[in-house]
Amino acid sequence: MTPLRLLHFTDLHLCADEGAVLRGVQPLATLRQSLAQAAAQCRSSGWRPDAIVVTGDVVHDDPGGYQLFRQEFAALGVPVCCIPGNHDDAAALSGALSQPPFITGGHLDLNGWRVVLLDTSVAGQDGGHLPPGQLQQLEQSLATATTPVLVCLHHHPVPMHSQWLDHIGLDNAAQFFGILDAHRSVRALLWGHVHQSYDALRRGVRLLATPSTCAQFLPHSDDFAIDPRPPAFRTLELWADGSVLTDLYWVDSCGTGSSHSASSAA
Ligand SMILES: [Fe+2]
Repeated sequence: MTPLRLLHFTDLHLCADEGAVLRGVQPLATLRQSLAQAAAQCRSSGWRPDAIVVTGDVVHDDPGGYQLFRQEFAALGVPVCCIPGNHDDAAALSGALSQPPFITGGHLDLNGWRVVLLDTSVAGQDGGHLPPGQLQQLEQSLATATTPVLVCLHHHPVPMHSQWLDHIGLDNAAQFFGILDAHRSVRALLWGHVHQSYDALRRGVRLLATPSTCAQFLPHSDDFAIDPRPPAFRTLELWADGSVLTDLYWVDSCGTGSSHSASSAA
């Protein structure tokens, strides 16, 4: 039996201008460093991803950045699941990424798991919300699942204990968890938005957030503050028995390697 192997990148914040600088870094350059580090890691370990998941803020308020995203991800040879964040234009994202290997909504069944993709973006707003249509899609995806399920979204559904960030999380998390709690198939949640690492358990469901491929936010800060940590990405191995293995990799932008932390939970 083989697991579902996923690579997770999030909060790319690309602009049409390849040399754009945001929060002190060049998002295209740091994305390329993250992709190169992931490819090197896969080569050296023989670990091959079955799909890539990108949980929003693909661009930074500039739909011209979707072209760069397509260039970087189209030829990687695996499905690329991509959902919008608060800095995306959801319609422009789904329009620009309407062809394979990109998947921008619904769910995907692969290697004994179902991956559910939700859109929590609200036009003109930093905070997230799941409208009735998305809640209905979630309900249907869970009701028809015969395998363990990973649910992906942009906004955090639990407090990060950072005052400014917790004002712009998912505002109807109680409704969201109400649906999840009615279905035992959900084994993991995966999000972006918070530009920092998070790993916890809620009622046996793994809760995971991954830092950005560009600049990070300082954890537990009441006010907006940049964390000087480097870009990062995550690997996930999802087994048919519902167990989740994951490694978080910090990309060393000086090119001297990466550090990673591994953890697992059933
Ligand atoms: Fe972001």
